[in-house]
Amino acid sequence: DMPVVIAILNSLTGIAAALTGLVLNNMAMVIAGVLVGASGGYLTLLMAKAMNRSVHNIIFGAFGGGHEGGPAGEATEERPYKQTSPDDVAISLAYAQNVIVVPGYGLAVAQAQHAVRELADVLEDKGVNVKYAIHPVAGRMPGHMNVLLAEANVPYDQLYDMDDINDEFANADVVLVIGANDVTNPAAKKDPKSPIYGMPILNVEDAKQIYVLKRSMKSGFAGIDSDLFYEPKTSMVFGDAKAVVTAMIQAVKQV
Ligand code: TAP
Repeated sequence: DMPVVIAILNSLTGIAAALTGLVLNNMAMVIAGVLVGASGGYLTLLMAKAMNRSVHNIIFGAFGGGHEGGPAGEATEERPYKQTSPDDVAISLAYAQNVIVVPGYGLAVAQAQHAVRELADVLEDKGVNVKYAIHPVAGRMPGHMNVLLAEANVPYDQLYDMDDINDEFANADVVLVIGANDVTNPAAKKDPKSPIYGMPILNVEDAKQIYVLKRSMKSGFAGIDSDLFYEPKTSMVFGDAKAVVTAMIQAVKQV
């Protein structure tokens, strides 16, 4: 949200300059101020439109703790969730037909890309169809996940952009969310009070079975709790992504 706030402040400096120009009767200052103010305002509207959110929601959405999920970094509400082990996930994966892997920032932190590629290879040997769903802002820089997976030689034709794969989640037997959080949070679609309401997300919750690999119930970059973790068909698998995926590889080999 910060670039939008900066654009608004930039626009306000232009308006302030234009008003000062009026007081000083300086026409050059008025024209320059109006140009800065108008272009900043236009940029703000364009960015808000690109984020699919209102300017009001961007500026005020996070005030007062934002979503009921509580302060950044922690899930404060005691909501029930399911937890499972890498061995159980391996059984689901080995007997699935279609598996979608959703990588996120945690995958990069854990440097688990090579292990993920190996897991996909083992599954493909068993006849499982594996695809990767890439959200445009997953990770911390544009193309972060593409670069990471390319480093592990994941075949490019297995990587699908959000718009190309979102309808396929309904046909997925298993979705493996690895170190991703905000980009899968259904609150972006369902909860108008959420600070990320309107942000396009991956339709992970449409899948038949969802496993989320992360170290804890802590929130991601946006600092809000994810409703996905509490869905009845979601199970959490806690641990470092690389260690958990490595354990899954061994377990899948034994199924
Ligand atoms: P996040 O929402 O930031 O979630 C990442 C998750 O990874 C965390 O919840 C964390 O949970 C988990 N994690 C961290 N280290 C891990 C490890 N070693 N093993 C397993 N899990 C680990 O990530 P996302 O879903 O990729 O979303 C990206 C966010 O960053 C968006 O909000 C986006 O707007 C923002 N952003 C993106 C960009 C670009 S251009 N990509 C730039 C700036 C900001 P635990 O702590 O519980 O493990």
